[in-house]
Amino acid sequence: MDITYQHIQETAEFIKAKGIEAPQVGIILGTGLGGLVKHLNIIQEIDYASIPNFPISTVESHKGKLIYGELEGKKVLAMQGRFHYYEGYNMQQITLPVRVMKLLGIQQLLISNAAGAVNLNYKKGTLMLLDDHINLLPENPLTGKNINELGPRFPDMSQPYNKRINELMITAAKKEDVELHKGVYASVPGPNLETRAEYRYIKIIGGDAVGMSTVPEVIVANHMNLPCAAVSVLTDECDPDNLHPVSLQEILDVAAEAEKGLVKLFKSVIKQL
Ligand code: HPA
Repeated sequence: MDITYQHIQETAEFIKAKGIEAPQVGIILGTGLGGLVKHLNIIQEIDYASIPNFPISTVESHKGKLIYGELEGKKVLAMQGRFHYYEGYNMQQITLPVRVMKLLGIQQLLISNAAGAVNLNYKKGTLMLLDDHINLLPENPLTGKNINELGPRFPDMSQPYNKRINELMITAAKKEDVELHKGVYASVPGPNLETRAEYRYIKIIGGDAVGMSTVPEVIVANHMNLPCAAVSVLTDECDPDNLHPVSLQEILDVAAEAEKGLVKLFKSVIKQL
């Protein structure tokens, strides 16, 4: 399905009519990282399934709810669960929620994801702030007719992750004693994890972490001039010379443990936005 500006407006109007009127910060919660919502003073929740034009998540570990509430004195709109390319949606569907959140008024977008550590100095269970990315997905959310109402045909990507928010993240990590690396995230289509040769390749081209999300959302945020930042929870170490099979359960377990640091970071940054 092709997403038009009218679809985006229609979805935004539906959400507004449910009382979600003035969100300031948008948050996308990645795999195994839904726990931040426990810290929210919840005002309203909407299942994705009831939102017009939203795709329905097919992955059980992704809950699929839009949650509006208060966190650190800010009105936040959190996506508990996101849409992935491997589920079969097109890039415009995957990024529709980011478009809609922008129309609803968010001024910043904070993103989280689970990723594999390709930089072997970065241990599993630690966090990585995205400083840049490499898009290895076979499609781009901006392909097709440009939505001029939202942004330019050829958006700049010289600084895809907002400098000020990243500085706040680094300061918050120091203050909260959370180990936070900085690096380049490579996005792959999945759903399979990578082969040894692919991990080697990702490392050679400059990736520090690899995952199956985030980049489409960041492209669309940049298109709309929406400042964003993203943090990866490193759930496995991708050492091509010593590669062990990883299960989704292991990824979820590590994510659940590392989530505590992520929550501290996001709360501290949101307070200062
Ligand atoms: N590769 C891709 N996606 C991932 C990985 C990985 O090793 N770990 C968690 N998400």
